[in-house]
Amino acid sequence: MNKVRLGIIGMGNIGKHHADYLLAGKVSRCELTAISDVFPQSLERYKGKVAKHFNDGEQLIRSQDVDGVVIATPHYQHTTLGIAALEAGVHVMVEKPISAHKADAERLIATGREHPKQVFAGMFQLRVEPRYVKIRKLIQDGELGEIVRINWIISDWFRTEAYYASGGWRATWKGEGGGVLINQCLHQLDMLQWLSGMPARVRGFCQLGRYHNIEVEDDITCYLEWANKATGVFVSSTGEAPGSNRFEIAGTRGKVVLENNKLTFTRNEADMIEFSRTSTVGFAKPDVWVADIPFENAPNPHATLMQNFVDAILDGVPLIAPGPEGIHSIELANVMLYSSLLGQTVELPMNSAAYEKKLNELIAQSKFEKKVVQVAAEDFTKSFNR
Ligand SMILES: NC(=O)c1ccc[n+]([C@@H]2O[C@H](COP(=O)([O-])OP(=O)(O)OC[C@H]3O[C@@H](n4cnc5c(N)ncnc54)[C@H](O)[C@@H]3O)[C@@H](O)[C@H]2O)c1
Repeated sequence: MNKVRLGIIGMGNIGKHHADYLLAGKVSRCELTAISDVFPQSLERYKGKVAKHFNDGEQLIRSQDVDGVVIATPHYQHTTLGIAALEAGVHVMVEKPISAHKADAERLIATGREHPKQVFAGMFQLRVEPRYVKIRKLIQDGELGEIVRINWIISDWFRTEAYYASGGWRATWKGEGGGVLINQCLHQLDMLQWLSGMPARVRGFCQLGRYHNIEVEDDITCYLEWANKATGVFVSSTGEAPGSNRFEIAGTRGKVVLENNKLTFTRNEADMIEFSRTSTVGFAKPDVWVADIPFENAPNPHATLMQNFVDAILDGVPLIAPGPEGIHSIELANVMLYSSLLGQTVELPMNSAAYEKKLNELIAQSKFEKKVVQVAAEDFTKSFNR
């Protein structure tokens, strides 16, 4: 094979975005051969541009028209369609989150394990953004020393009532399995674990429908603790304006802050623990050097990750975002909510069956009826760059 024939399942906001850069030739050795959506009108603008159209994702998978698929449907179908594709011998790029909850992610990953010849990737495009790649290198090179604190306040995910009314599946236990955590914050949660590993315990405080007429969480504050005693706070909201996006990691050798598209490294000349032990005066502090770390934002991070998926299929290059790694961001989203619902700290790894049971109870008890309305067309890509 010298070219990957790709299909997209789910032609909503992100499915169209993938289709548009693929049709513009932004991914080499890849041809968009098929698209699918349960609503035929979502396919219309691709008449004459994409050869095969299907109204059922499973039909596309079985069509023999594709070598790989991108699954861009609501979250719960990521698991069922992902399993169907892997079992049919098709390579899979699944949108984030890889599943709606941890137990489903385990099912999907187990199927991937049974089909090791197929490439199974996750669309975690922040992993190719130079600002995060640089933070990761600082950590891996030991420039920060041992990490002691991680704080991320990302409260600028403002969404209106019209946004929540725009899709029947959004912000419901049954359709989405959660709110701001599983949807908007999933990329930040992937970054959190990609940069610093998984915490050992979490205590979440989530407010359900605080700002919007929804049944799931739209405002959260969570405390995290790692095995080495590092601590962190993760804050998010879709109801607060203007909101903030400030990511700060402190280590024994200094701290890095990402805010307002600026990355600053304040480096301690001496390790703070060593300095504290050896200094002979009480109010001394390590001297610091302050460095602004330059970076450019990736011009099309989704296309870069898609190219990596294609190169993995054709050349066997390692994946930047292997699908199974997607379980960590789901577990974080789930455990923050679960801890809040239980009113207690939860140790990780979280019991996925217990969480699934809780989620099913919420689905069963839901009396929420959603009124879906048509919203004005707007540029969805402006929500990307965090
Ligand atoms: N990586 C990113 O930057 C990014 C950005 C936005 C959304 N997403 C993820 O992509 C997914 C879709 O989000 P969206 O905003 O595009 O939602 P959306 O509601 O705009 O689109 C989903 C589409 O899937 C279709 N669909 C549902 N079930 C289907 C099936 N069985 N077969 C074929 N089509 C089906 C729906 O009709 C709809 O058109 C979500 O999981 C979301 O988290 C990722």
